[in-house]
Amino acid sequence: MAKGKGFGKTILFGEHFVVYGKTGIVAGLDKGIWAEVEKSTEDEVATNEYKKERMESLQAIKKALGVNVGVRLKNVSSELPAGAGVGSSAALAVAIARAINNEFELGKNEKEICNAAYESERIFHGTPSGIDNTAATYGGVIVFRKRERGNLIKRLKVKKTFYIAIGISGKQGITKELVAMVRTKREENERWFANVLKKYAKLSKEALGALQKGNLVKVGKLMDENQVLLREIGVSTKELEEIIDIAKKSGALGAKLTGAGGGGCAIALAENEEKAKKISEAVKKAGYGSFYSKIV
Ligand code: PMV
Repeated sequence: MAKGKGFGKTILFGEHFVVYGKTGIVAGLDKGIWAEVEKSTEDEVATNEYKKERMESLQAIKKALGVNVGVRLKNVSSELPAGAGVGSSAALAVAIARAINNEFELGKNEKEICNAAYESERIFHGTPSGIDNTAATYGGVIVFRKRERGNLIKRLKVKKTFYIAIGISGKQGITKELVAMVRTKREENERWFANVLKKYAKLSKEALGALQKGNLVKVGKLMDENQVLLREIGVSTKELEEIIDIAKKSGALGAKLTGAGGGGCAIALAENEEKAKKISEAVKKAGYGSFYSKIV
């Protein structure tokens, strides 16, 4: 029997704008998913939830790692809310890949683990960008850009450790529908949208610099600016705005929705654990789910 872990992720900057080729910045959470596997006579998923999906994921990962004997997925334990845009499918895939690597002493490196998880992600997301499995494998802060000749996915050296408090709105936005809605708005008013993209391009460039320098006050301010743009394109909700408001009043350096919006989660930046905890508790007090995570 062996275990493995994969990290969750959150989008710090750039959801929706990455669809139009802009730079996104993603953080791997220290919270994630654990998987436990053991050698078996045949492939088996011994958990009751998402049995079919987990079996497909297990088999894709086995194939990518070159494992031909049976594997039993014995147990899955998650610190992440499912379907909240925190990359739980990729976190599980990395956890399974690592657990298999440990169980069979395959000696695979991080890149091979990341690639195996990508094969699992392909089953659920068609042609995924690769960002979720990258964050799930390596953690840290990752810069992302969609490109014709393969997406850019690069780890960013960040000067200071920081914390992210996450508030869960309780509603679920459907990414595909929200992306389509934004596209329609863009078609209806191209000049307006081009201007939004221009503002985002400027702020994301500043965000990269501020993260590298460890200027968290600036990062927070830029998150607020990013949220203004997300509001403008119509993907925020009353609940997300409420979470953001509570977070700001509880001392967050900045706050915004994360992921596709229309529900899902909002994130708040905190310079230390104590502050992240305080924000998270205030969000919970208002009736929302919340947790916080260290970003390393
Ligand atoms: O729902 P998530 O966290 O995987 O984020 C979706 C991000 C979008 O930019 C809205 C869509 C995309 O494919 O990039």
